[in-house]
Amino acid sequence: MPIEILATGAALGAEISGVDLARPLDDATFAAIERAFDAHGVIFFRGQRITPQQQVDFSRRFGEIEFNIFGERWSVPGCPEIVVVSNITEDGRPIGVRRAGENWHSDMCYTARPPRGTMLYALEIPDLFGLALGDTEFASAAVAWDALPEALRRKLDGRRAVFDFTGRKRAFPPTQDEIDRNPPVRHPIVRTHPHTGRKCLYVMRDDCTGIEGIEAAEAEALIAALADHIVKPAFVYRHQWRPGDLLMWDNCTVQHRAIQDYDMPQRRLMHRTTMGGAVPA
Ligand code: OGA
Ligand code: MN
Repeated sequence: MPIEILATGAALGAEISGVDLARPLDDATFAAIERAFDAHGVIFFRGQRITPQQQVDFSRRFGEIEFNIFGERWSVPGCPEIVVVSNITEDGRPIGVRRAGENWHSDMCYTARPPRGTMLYALEIPDLFGLALGDTEFASAAVAWDALPEALRRKLDGRRAVFDFTGRKRAFPPTQDEIDRNPPVRHPIVRTHPHTGRKCLYVMRDDCTGIEGIEAAEAEALIAALADHIVKPAFVYRHQWRPGDLLMWDNCTVQHRAIQDYDMPQRRLMHRTTMGGAVPA
């Protein structure tokens, strides 16, 4: 079957069909996938059956695997590259990180080199009466940038925001060692995508604690206003998962959040990898 790329019709996202990720991908097919990823921000493949190693190998074609604080606690046994995202408990012990991000965010934006992208492979998806639960929402911070009034664009362009690891409320408190390893960093508020050259907003309500050159109270109000703007319904795609979906998002142009609308005995089980990126510019 030839590869096909079908845009979701929302502000971002495309489904890719005609690709079996359990088989070797030739360079031309991979190049088409990578172009779609850069252009659409979110891409997904339905009906996949892949091993942890196949997911790691596919992830590596986009960039080196990033290891993060989740992986140190919850990785697939024998496969440290894959983080388990799940609400399942076995023998009284959670098998994965349960709350991977219920507030809008971009992964690891508080690090000096945030990951290029994140990939989730859905193994079990909760449902009620056959209706899928546990959707993930994605917002295009590129379309949100395009929609800003010119005067605000001028005010923002060239400025940097402070990202602070301790700003975000986490389901589990970070250790002092983790805090020490993640000192505050500064990133441009207006990022340029390294492959497409497209501009996008890079502001997270929970993680940004200030903006260079803007006084604290105004910066706080501006961060909140921009964070609200980015996630307006017109800029959002909501993914309804099916087992066998492999989906990946771009952490430069896209923000995301998990919808927490299910609980045990409804099980959700995802395998997650993150792909290394460049210093934001
Ligand atoms: C993540 C994340 C959302 C979800 O893994 O970084 O935010 O729906 N996951 O599991
Ligand atoms: Mn996340």
